[in-house]
Amino acid sequence: MPRAAKKNTIRYRCSECGYVSMSMVGRCPGCGSWGTMSEEETAAGGAARVSSAAASPISSVSVVPEERIPSGIDELDRVLGGGWIRGGVVLLGGEPGVGKSTLLLQACASMASAGRRVLYISGEESAGQLALRARRLGIPTDNVDLLCETDLPVMLAAASGYEFLVIDSVQSFRLDDESGWAGSASQVRNVASMSAELSKREGIPTVMVGHITKQGQIAGPKILEHMVDVVLLFSGERSSSHRLLRAEKNRYGATDELGIFEMSERGLVPVVDPSRLYWNASFQAIAGVAIGISMEGSRPLAAEIQALSCATPFPYPKRTARGIEVNRLQLLLAVLERRCGIFSRSCDVYVNVAGGLSLQDPAADLSICAALASSLKDTPLAGDTCFIGEIGLAGEVRPASRTHLRLREASRLGFRNAVVSGREAIDAKSSRDFSIIKVSSIFQMLERLMK
Ligand code: TYD
Ligand code: MG
Repeated sequence: MPRAAKKNTIRYRCSECGYVSMSMVGRCPGCGSWGTMSEEETAAGGAARVSSAAASPISSVSVVPEERIPSGIDELDRVLGGGWIRGGVVLLGGEPGVGKSTLLLQACASMASAGRRVLYISGEESAGQLALRARRLGIPTDNVDLLCETDLPVMLAAASGYEFLVIDSVQSFRLDDESGWAGSASQVRNVASMSAELSKREGIPTVMVGHITKQGQIAGPKILEHMVDVVLLFSGERSSSHRLLRAEKNRYGATDELGIFEMSERGLVPVVDPSRLYWNASFQAIAGVAIGISMEGSRPLAAEIQALSCATPFPYPKRTARGIEVNRLQLLLAVLERRCGIFSRSCDVYVNVAGGLSLQDPAADLSICAALASSLKDTPLAGDTCFIGEIGLAGEVRPASRTHLRLREASRLGFRNAVVSGREAIDAKSSRDFSIIKVSSIFQMLERLMK
């Protein structure tokens, strides 16, 4: 007689990453978390009972364009890729006090004023606290329904039938049938999966707020980020009133868009001219300062690069970078040394991108190199010149992406000269009060600008 043909098997699944192990282990081999493996039962031989499904070519699938539901906040819509999507689940993470609840309350208010039925469920704050904040910031919440609750099934039952849902936060709800406190891995997974299920079933766009850990990651199991369609991160320095919204994951759009807000006594206000935020428009010629035009998603921004070099008393000189990666700084210093003979071995070098901007765009290389060379040679560059281009290890200046957009922004901001790659296909006569300086290498650029 075949043995154990009908016997159920026990396996162990990690509540953090979903790793499956056939034996009980204390530490998950998948993600390294301790004590997260729990037992689950599966029917053996299940595969034999599964009926087969027919596959079909992707091109034969009929595609209906997704309808976008505007949030009423342009900066938020830009990061979402055009607005909310029916049945789409968004996770919004950020440090406490950064403004997550305020942003969502503002979105609720503008959607309600557009005639949509919206519900804000708060498991963290009392109705009094929320109403007081809305009044203080002047957010018109007349038609926004509010529910203060921490019981998951009660909250889900109340949410049925709405057109937009905010769950603040995923860590504050609890399902009584399941063990663990609110915010524990298993409870967070329940909140996310049951809310997502409601959202998909009824086609309600849903936003869940997620707390963030000290390491800057969304608290709770990693699987949470896999369960949602969009992960947004809201960030900002404590000392500054500016707030940045980025998408970490977006099944419906690009992840490189940046939303910029300013915190005010009227709530979050979109920043209309972000270039002015990061650049003080002084056009002053200072040794070690160069302006690059960097792309943040589809928007060009003026980024002020500041470099400072000074003689070091130590055998190993220091390299410090804020706003760019320190490896990139080291690489560009090496290029300057080998291709232009500008030595920095006996200097400490510091680089800072003004305003707390963080640059990933490779086309910022030329401005970083210009700032470094200007500081190391103690020679100021013309203040009305901006730099656009990527630098290769051979010291060559490579073309940037969307150069026309960048040049248009530079001209709007009042720059008179732009240094770009010699391989850029731009008609130099096309702009009248704006001159384009084409260079093929970093050496050639320094020859022309720092003689
Ligand atoms: P809050 O939205 O509660 O932050 P989070 O939900 O991320 O923890 O905002 C924190 C406090 O800041 C709150 O008391 C309201 C205040 N605030 C303003 O006064 N203006 C603003 O523009 C924002 C965003 C917040
Ligand atoms: Mg909050």
